[in-house]
Amino acid sequence: MKNFKNSYGPWALITGASSGIGEAFAFRLATEGMNLILAARRKDKLTALAQKLETKFGIDVRTVEVDLLKKDFLESIKSATADVQIGLLVNNAGQLILNQYMNTSIEDESRMIDLNIKTPAILTHHFAEKMIRRGKGGIINVASVLAYMGVPYSAAYAATKAYELVKSEGLWYELRKHGIDVLSLNPGLTKSEMTKELDFSHMPMKLMNPASVANTAVKALGKKSQVTPGWMNKMLVFMSKHFMTRNMNTKMFGMLMGKTYTKLQQAN
Ligand SMILES: NC(=O)c1ccc[n+]([C@@H]2O[C@H](COP(=O)([O-])OP(=O)(O)OC[C@H]3O[C@@H](n4cnc5c(N)ncnc54)[C@H](OP(=O)(O)O)[C@@H]3O)[C@@H](O)[C@H]2O)c1
Repeated sequence: MKNFKNSYGPWALITGASSGIGEAFAFRLATEGMNLILAARRKDKLTALAQKLETKFGIDVRTVEVDLLKKDFLESIKSATADVQIGLLVNNAGQLILNQYMNTSIEDESRMIDLNIKTPAILTHHFAEKMIRRGKGGIINVASVLAYMGVPYSAAYAATKAYELVKSEGLWYELRKHGIDVLSLNPGLTKSEMTKELDFSHMPMKLMNPASVANTAVKALGKKSQVTPGWMNKMLVFMSKHFMTRNMNTKMFGMLMGKTYTKLQQAN
C-alpha cells in the first residue's frame, strides 16, 4: 500500500470527526502517520480525540470547533489550515432525515442539502485548488449505498448522496491528471450516532463497524473512483444493478425503510 504521508501530503482534514465514521477516519489516518485537523461542532469530543491520537501515534492534531452550516464556516477552516498543507480532504460530516417527505419542513431539508452537498463543494473548491498547484492530493467524499436508488422515507437524503457519488466519479477523472485521487465512499448501515436510535433489525444486512468502513476507503483511494464497504453491501449493490429494475429497488427500500420509520414513530 502507498505511503499516505508522502503520496498526499502531511496533513488531512476530516469533517465530522467527533463521532462515527469521521472518528474512525481519524484513527485510521493516524496509523498512516498523517497529522490531522479534526472539524465538528462538539469541542469536548474533538479535544479528547486529539489528545488520544497525539499520545498514541505521536502525530500533530488540531481541532476546529465549527458549525459547517454557518455562512462563515470556511473562515474558521482557513484560519486553522493556513500554515499547513492539506494533502487529504475527507468530506464526511453529514445528516440523515428519515421521515415522510411531506412531514419534513423545507428548512430542515435545505439544511441537510447544505451540509451534505454545499459544504463539501465549498471545501473541495478551496483545497483542490491548492492540491492542483502542488500536483498531488486526495479527496474522499462520504456518500452511501442509498446513492444508487430512490429511497422512500429518506428520499432527499439518498438524493444528496447520489449527488456526491456522481460528482466524485466526474472529479475522479478530471482531477487525476493533476495528481489528485478522488473517491466516493458508499457505506451501508454503519454503527454511529446517526443510526443508534434507529431499529434496522429487519434489514437483511448487519450494521458495520466504522473502523472497517474507514479502512476500506483508505485502501481504495487511488485505485478506484468509488467503493462500497462490506461484502453484504457489495452484494446489495450488485443485485440492485444487475437483477432488479430501479422501481423494484425503490419498492424494496420502501418496505425496509418504512419499517424503520414506523418503529421510530412508535418509539417517540
Ligand atoms: N451510519 C451510517 O449507516 C451511514 C451510512 C452511509 C453513509 N453515512 C454517512 O457517513 C457520514 C458520517 O456519519 P456517521 O454515520 O458517522 O454519523 P455521526 O456519528 O452522526 O457523525 C456525523 C458527524 O458530522 C458532524 N456534524 C453534523 N452536523 C454538523 C455541522 N452542522 N457542522 C459540523 N459538523 C457536523 C457531527 O459532529 P458534531 O455533532 O460534533 O458537529 C459528527 O461528527 C455522513 O455523511 C453520513 O451520511 C452513514
